[in-house]
Amino acid sequence: MPLVLNEALSNLRPSGIRRFSALAQATSGCISLTLGEPGEDTPADVCAKVREGLAAGETHYPPNNGMPALRGAISEHMGRRGVAFEPDEVVVTSGATEALFAALQAMLNPEDEVIVPMPAFLLYESIVTLCRARVVPLDTSGAGYQIEADVLAAAVTPRTKAIVITSPNNPTGCVLSAESLDAVAELAAERDFYVICDDVYDQLVYVDGYQGFAQRHPELRDRTVVVNSFSKPYAMTGWRLGWLAADAPLVAEIAKVHQYAVSSAVAFTQRAAAFALSTDVSVFRERYRTRCDLVVRALSATGLPTPEPAGAFYAFPSIEEFGLSSEEFCVRAIEEAGVALVPGSLFGGEGHVRLSYACSDEDLEEALARLGRFVGELRRG
Ligand SMILES: Cc1ncc(COP(=O)(O)O)c(C=O)c1O
Repeated sequence: MPLVLNEALSNLRPSGIRRFSALAQATSGCISLTLGEPGEDTPADVCAKVREGLAAGETHYPPNNGMPALRGAISEHMGRRGVAFEPDEVVVTSGATEALFAALQAMLNPEDEVIVPMPAFLLYESIVTLCRARVVPLDTSGAGYQIEADVLAAAVTPRTKAIVITSPNNPTGCVLSAESLDAVAELAAERDFYVICDDVYDQLVYVDGYQGFAQRHPELRDRTVVVNSFSKPYAMTGWRLGWLAADAPLVAEIAKVHQYAVSSAVAFTQRAAAFALSTDVSVFRERYRTRCDLVVRALSATGLPTPEPAGAFYAFPSIEEFGLSSEEFCVRAIEEAGVALVPGSLFGGEGHVRLSYACSDEDLEEALARLGRFVGELRRG
C-alpha cells in the first residue's frame, strides 16, 4: 500500500514571501523590500537579560503557559492599553504563529468556516486548511479595507466559527475603524462566533485614536482571543516569542493544544521578554513613521495609487494600470530594476504589490528610486 500523508497538506504551498525573498537574494545587487521583519537587531539591554536568565539556571522546563513573571508583565502591558486579562488568562507562545495555530486548532472542526477580511496574511488560510476547515474571504478592497456590516452579515453562515481581524493590517497597513470593529462585535454576539484579533502591529500605529477590538468591546471577552508578539515592535523576530490571551475557560482549552504542540516557550528568554515590555518602543515607531511618510510621498510621485498606511511597516500600491499580474510585476521588478516586492496575490489582493519599509533608510530610498524608474519604463512600454 502506498504511504499517505495528511491530505490537507496537498492544499498548502510553501510561503510565497520566502520564494520572492530567495529570488531577490539570488539576484545580484537586488534590494529586497519583501520581508516583514525589522532590520534592526534586538536592543542590547534586552539581550543582556538572556544571560541573566541562563545564569539564574532558567534552563529547565518552564510552566506550560509561561513563567509567572512574564505572564504578569503581559497582563499589565495589556492592562495599560485598556485590555483586561489576568496572568492566568495568558499563554506565552512560540510567536504569534503558534498562538494563531493553537487558537484555531482549539476551535475548529472539519468543515467549519473562518471569515478572513482580505487582503490578509496568508498564515491564517494555511492553518485553517490544516484544520480541515474553510476560509471564507471577505473582500474589503471596495470599502477602503474596512469591514462593512452588511457584507460581513452576508458571509456569516451556521458554520461560521470565527473571524480573524488584523489591525494594523498586513499587507495594507490599514487600521480598522470603530465602525468596522462594531460591525464585527454586533455579528459575533448575534450569530455566536469567536473573534481572533491578530494585534502584532498594535504598537506600530501612526495615527491618533487607535483602538483594538478587545479594548473597544470588552463585553465580548468570552469569545475574543487576542494574539500578539514580541517580533515586530521589539525587533525580536528570531526569538520566536508571542502570546495569546482569552477568557479563562477558553484559554484552558487553547492551552491544551499549546501543551501538546510545544510544551512551552523557551525558558531562558522569558525574563528578557518581560523586560522588553517595560522598554519604550517609540524610537522604532518614529523611525517607521518617517519611512512611512517617505514611502507615501514617493509612491504618490510615481503615480501608484496606495491606500494610506496607518500602521505596521507595509504599503500596498495598486499596479492595475500595467495589466500585469502581481507575480509578473514582481518578477520583472527584480530582474529589470533590482527591487524585490511581494505580489498582492499572495495576500488575496491581486492588482497590488506589498512593499515592506522595515529596512534601512538608504536601501529604502534607493529601492523607491528604482521602482519609480521601473514604473516609468513600463508606462513608456
Ligand atoms: C499579521 C501577522 N501576524 C502574525 C505574524 C507572525 O508573527 P510571529 O513572528 O510572532 O510568529 C506576522 C508576521 O509577519 C504577521 O504579519
